[in-house]
Amino acid sequence: MHVTSRAIATNQLGPHKDVARRVTRALGHPLRKPVADHTREAFERAQAWYTQHGGAGRPLILDAGCGVGLSTRQLAAGFADHLVIGVDRSAERLSREHGEVGDNALLVRADLVDFWRLALAAGWQPVRHYLLYPNPYPKSAHLKQRWHGHPVLPVILALGGRLELRSNWRLYVEEFALALNQVTGETAEVDVFVPDEPYLTPFERKYHLSGQSLWRLVVDLPHAPQLVPGGTAEEVG
Ligand SMILES: C[S@@+](CC[C@H](N)C(=O)[O-])C[C@H]1O[C@@H](n2cnc3c(N)ncnc32)[C@H](O)[C@@H]1O
Repeated sequence: MHVTSRAIATNQLGPHKDVARRVTRALGHPLRKPVADHTREAFERAQAWYTQHGGAGRPLILDAGCGVGLSTRQLAAGFADHLVIGVDRSAERLSREHGEVGDNALLVRADLVDFWRLALAAGWQPVRHYLLYPNPYPKSAHLKQRWHGHPVLPVILALGGRLELRSNWRLYVEEFALALNQVTGETAEVDVFVPDEPYLTPFERKYHLSGQSLWRLVVDLPHAPQLVPGGTAEEVG
């Protein structure tokens, strides 16, 4: 099958020089953005589902930015004794028909910046946390929109678990590794990644079939709410 997806076009030659500065800022300033009502409601529904299905008694997987939720469905099938929650802000993507969502999976429409903070404040401790092909924001001026340049970074890392980032842009993963090291002291390799079929996500399929290289970082993190400046309760109040 012929698939084309344009390779990343960026004006960066290497990791952005401001990654460390952005991370220092994220570690020094509480994220005070109020939580949107729709995400608070979505989180409450997710919390109720989580509790009904066994809550902290069952291992939790977060699929952050799950798009159409193909990865959420596959992870739920592959980890049948886990609970898998896929979160995406796009109602249109989440509504696309990709088959049954297993009993142990839930798709949630929410803004991750708020959802992650609520999850941490509620004491969620995912055993696995996937960031699969996040929007790259490849222009250098858009660093602050990449997850490692965003003030929510300490929250993502504080949740803990086996964090896996995949991208078709090597620099994104390299920058994330630098930010990860700055926040946690952990060193993570940036590896080229050749996916097996079935592809975990539509973007993975599209990039791979277009002949693009894929990059991956995997790191095991402790649950560490103390990484978040100002604590977790205050910031979601
Ligand atoms: C490039 S797509 C990848 C989707 C999917 N993981 C895949 O690989 O097919 C990035 C996804 O992240 C979602 N996203 C970006 N920012 C988000 C946010 N703040 N909250 C929730 N979802 C977000 C977008 O809606 C989009 O579906």
